[in-house]
Amino acid sequence: MQATAIAQPNIALIKYWGKRDVLRNLPAVGSISITLSTLYTEVSVELDDGLPSDILLVNGDENEAMLGRISACLDNVVGEQRPRAHVASQSNFPIAAGLASSSSAFAATTVAAAGAARRLCDTGDLARMAGSASGSAARSLYGGFAELKNAGDTINLSSLRDVDSWPLRVVVAITETACKAVGSTEAMEISRRTSPFYGSWIEQQDNDLDVARAAIAGKDFAQLATIAEHNCLKMHSVMWASRPPMVYWNSATMRCMQTVRQLQEEGCNVFFTIDAGPQVKAICLPEDEKNVVRALSETPGVQEIMTSGLGPAARLVARS
Ligand code: DP6
Repeated sequence: MQATAIAQPNIALIKYWGKRDVLRNLPAVGSISITLSTLYTEVSVELDDGLPSDILLVNGDENEAMLGRISACLDNVVGEQRPRAHVASQSNFPIAAGLASSSSAFAATTVAAAGAARRLCDTGDLARMAGSASGSAARSLYGGFAELKNAGDTINLSSLRDVDSWPLRVVVAITETACKAVGSTEAMEISRRTSPFYGSWIEQQDNDLDVARAAIAGKDFAQLATIAEHNCLKMHSVMWASRPPMVYWNSATMRCMQTVRQLQEEGCNVFFTIDAGPQVKAICLPEDEKNVVRALSETPGVQEIMTSGLGPAARLVARS
């Protein structure tokens, strides 16, 4: 029994940072994201009674580091008594470098595993299962703008806007392709335990979500820009003030932020957001994309530029 799924990574505009239940991987805060179009991860899962243990190939190479989390994801979707699986994952962008690769990888794995096991689930169920593997992956079950609500004993997801109704563009400035030193899962726990700013981060999140939701509903780019940058910089302040401190930026990250500031002063509709890595994602209106690409590619230290529109939800593409 075999199935293949494709998922696009998503970028949070209002960030998830911190867990309220580590065992069930429940986030401490809600979050709002956009799903991308040109970046993707394709995962195929083959359940095979003859296999002695799970095998994971990432971009063609056997990967032991991620195997435990992938096996746990399969246990959750297919059941612990399942046949072992051969899992092959292929991404068209650098992985584990702050480009949200875990969101697309776990979303695609969840959809492919449910497909291979012939398990019928609705999108909300798939999102909850993807979210228990990696919080951000839940959002890639939705295209366009998605919100993850931290509701009661579980998470609930909803679509805030479809792909076409507000076609924002995303310009990603890659400043470093090496894997990050501390993964998000571990880093957010360090923040929860040690950052003096963690409590106020959690307290203020609902307000940031309200402002962003209203900005998306009203297609108010300036309001979305202000709240998304504020929320991103607050998350990084929490990280910086943790012990040990976690600083994911390099000097090119800072220069890209200055480039975005300069563009804003010139009247360009653009804002930045940065996750647990040194890459800068500049979100802009379509008519400003050319200027944003030019300015960021001329920024010293930028190694590569990737551009994307908003993309679709994770989906099954083959089953046999
Ligand atoms: C900074 O979803 O990777 O990208 O649930 O532990 O797998 P786990 O964490 P993960 O964290 C993403 C953190 C972030 C912000 C975001 O995407 O909301």
